[in-house]
Amino acid sequence: MKIAVYPGSFDPVTNGHFDVIRRSAAVFDRVIVGVLDNGSKKALFTVAERMDMVRRVTRDIKNVQVDTFSGLLVDFMEAFDAKVIIKGLRTVSDFEYEFQMALLNKSLKPQMETLFMMTDSKYSYISSSMVKEVARLGGSLDELVCDDVAQILRNKLRDRG
Ligand code: PNS
Repeated sequence: MKIAVYPGSFDPVTNGHFDVIRRSAAVFDRVIVGVLDNGSKKALFTVAERMDMVRRVTRDIKNVQVDTFSGLLVDFMEAFDAKVIIKGLRTVSDFEYEFQMALLNKSLKPQMETLFMMTDSKYSYISSSMVKEVARLGGSLDELVCDDVAQILRNKLRDRG
């Protein structure tokens, strides 16, 4: 069975993330979306909220599973017997950082492979931080995140004042 892990912060999950998950699920038998629980990194949403949003957007894709991790990505992968890390690439500027991470992960566990998937051009400008900025400034989220996520994001920002 070919198992891949798609790791990230997903704060929140965007249409670009969803596109990569959907396409990966068509290539692999099983895709584990690994939501990073990084206490030191300031996230708008809790890990439980981020996992819930990823579950909502992927509910119709049967071979996608959502989990969380806080240590090394390669250790999380071993628990699932996954050998492939999926990374989405939007722009050339993403590449440098991703290249470094891929080499680092390979040095930690040589059996792990990182596969890069080009983001569909219609999502290449979307990032979670841009989505939060647009939401804070009252812009339309229609093209950026799914309706459920847009509502959850607006509620979160309203509750925070
Ligand atoms: O969505 P993000 O924040 O760009 O995702 C970053 C992520 C989660 C892929 C990266 O920070 C990660 O893999 N963290 C786990 C810790 C780890 O394994 N570090 C060594 C490789 S960088």
